Amino acid sequence: MYSEKVMDHFMNPRNVGEIEDADGVGQVGNPKCGDIMKIYLKIEDGIIVDVKFKTFGCGSAIASSSMATELIKGKSIEEAVKLTNKAVAEALDGLPPVKMHCSVLAEQAIKAALLDYAKKNNVTIEGLEDFN
Ligand code: FES
Ligand code: FES
Repeated sequence: MYSEKVMDHFMNPRNVGEIEDADGVGQVGNPKCGDIMKIYLKIEDGIIVDVKFKTFGCGSAIASSSMATELIKGKSIEEAVKLTNKAVAEALDGLPPVKMHCSVLAEQAIKAALLDYAKKNNVTIEGLEDFN
């Protein structure tokens, strides 16, 4: 049912933890089930130099958070904004259809953290206008 990559990122999640002096923090939750994902970003010169996450959720949510942090680490803000939950799921070699919503949490937590960064620094990030 789960790909090897999902199992690997669930058993050995990358970038777990928090960043104390984070430049952007984003938290999203699914009110129906209470699952929560929190993403911390360290940003220098428009580049995501560090990223950490904390997820209270199922294995797919943890694997999605882990993969999503790997996908945006070292990338520019512009690239991170474009990360879709579909791309996260594809990088994991797929998620079962009933678990796709778990990868949506990862996309939204990253966008929320970028929005927090944008607000704190009084900048606008293209592609985030419609996200709130
Ligand atoms: Fe909560 Fe899937 S059951 S996000
Ligand atoms: Fe709750 Fe995946 S985060 S089912």
